[in-house]
Amino acid sequence: MATWWEHAVFYQVYPRSFRDSNGDGVGDLDGVTAGLDYLSSLGVDALWLNPVMVSPMADHGYDVADPRDVDPLFGDLDALDRLLDSAHARGIRITMDLVPNHTSSAHPWFVEALANPARRDRYIFRDGRGPDGSVPPNNWVSIFGGPAWTRVTEPDGTPGQWYLHLFDAAQPDLNWDNPEVFDDLEKTLRFWLDRGVDGFRIDVAHGMAKPPGLPDMSVVDTAVLRNSDDDPRFDNESVHDIHRFIRTVFDDYPDAVAVGEVWVRGNEQFAKYLRPDELHLGFNFRLVQADYDADEIRDAIDNALAAAALAGATPTWTLSNHDVEREVTRYGGGARGLARARAMALVMLALPGAVFIYNGEELGLPNVELPDAVLQDPVWERSGHTERGRDGCRVPMPWQGSEAPFGFSTNPDTWLPIPANWATLTVAHQEHDPDSTLAFYRRAVQLRSSRSEFGGNGIDWLDGLTFRRPGGLVCVLNAGATALPLPAGEVLLASGPLVDGTVPPDTAVWLV
Ligand code: NOJ
Repeated sequence: MATWWEHAVFYQVYPRSFRDSNGDGVGDLDGVTAGLDYLSSLGVDALWLNPVMVSPMADHGYDVADPRDVDPLFGDLDALDRLLDSAHARGIRITMDLVPNHTSSAHPWFVEALANPARRDRYIFRDGRGPDGSVPPNNWVSIFGGPAWTRVTEPDGTPGQWYLHLFDAAQPDLNWDNPEVFDDLEKTLRFWLDRGVDGFRIDVAHGMAKPPGLPDMSVVDTAVLRNSDDDPRFDNESVHDIHRFIRTVFDDYPDAVAVGEVWVRGNEQFAKYLRPDELHLGFNFRLVQADYDADEIRDAIDNALAAAALAGATPTWTLSNHDVEREVTRYGGGARGLARARAMALVMLALPGAVFIYNGEELGLPNVELPDAVLQDPVWERSGHTERGRDGCRVPMPWQGSEAPFGFSTNPDTWLPIPANWATLTVAHQEHDPDSTLAFYRRAVQLRSSRSEFGGNGIDWLDGLTFRRPGGLVCVLNAGATALPLPAGEVLLASGPLVDGTVPPDTAVWLV
């Protein structure tokens, strides 16, 4: 059965940073609604909203204190309904973010667990090791840096048990051996899906299940924001039972999509998450991880296609998100980084499957070097100020005007400062320039969704980094240092100027 997401262009909205409607300097749901005409003109099929549920914002919404309500910072349930109605009226679907691996430490379950040791079985509490229990239960480290365990003070004031948190201490991991955790997740899913939400991106979809006995990590990798495939903290076999359960709920909403955040590299392991009774889609991060290098890019594409094919699933493509350095900067920054980012966008949008664009990518935004004093990502504190974290890719979007906050907010004191030199990157500025990155993205998305040459699954490699889709589209990427001859055919779109009938370095082109 054909599904809407098979060839969809998803647009990821980081709600704090998209558009502020109430002047508090933080983006919100009415801001997203106000931006829908812009998103319509970009031609996207669906939005993925990062979490907007009630949260103390220790990890900007990935610490959920009430999974079935909207945080006042972003609006309320009525604001969400307004967004759903306005988006649906424009044919844009809305997917939200589900956080099943952990809750906030402010969640009533955790508050209760701290107050009453008999009520701790929704989380992973253990006694410490050593004569006085002062050594953590195992050697696991947090993805954000530091130990993955925090010791609590018991109600009688004595040092007590430890609880597990793979991320911040304000994000205690749930105990997925407890059926109550399943029941509550089902309630949450139905709450939003019944409201008209079109699906979920599932946070840490390779997490949740923990191995029996919580064995030590054999290699303690203290690098933040990274995990290997051989890591007891993630990708445990029983995670698939959880996905099968989630799928049974989704099957009551046949038009809704579940997209998992699956940081698993091995293709066989990755494909397991996409079996017919598990996730519909899994984020494949190989393109994000590939350097701008011909072999790495081709290898990333081949592996992502092979992994999806193993499960008979739809491939997914993404160049960036709110957790990684923006691609303009990753590819070297400046004019060259931007040229490469545009070329890679053309490659991504030529590939079969679902594509995810991260807000601001269509403007060619670079990562921002922020001063220490404004950093907010828990990674900064937890790494002992050795890792700056992810704030640099989360800076608010510039909309118009010549001075910060560039129409993002009426409040100059935005939650992260917007660089003063972004005037030429604003939406309004780029709308007047036919060669702008925004104009280029609009054209690319429009061609991708309207031309029959983008039809068919799979790709055939022709030569180097040139491939052909079954429908006839040819995509050429020049990741080398010298110009390539332009193949025969009609040029549909190029990521930069084509010089004397050649494809210059750092340029991609579509032909039919
Ligand atoms: C992955 C999310 O994308 C990231 O932003 C978050 O910090 C962690 N999961 C923890 O929820």
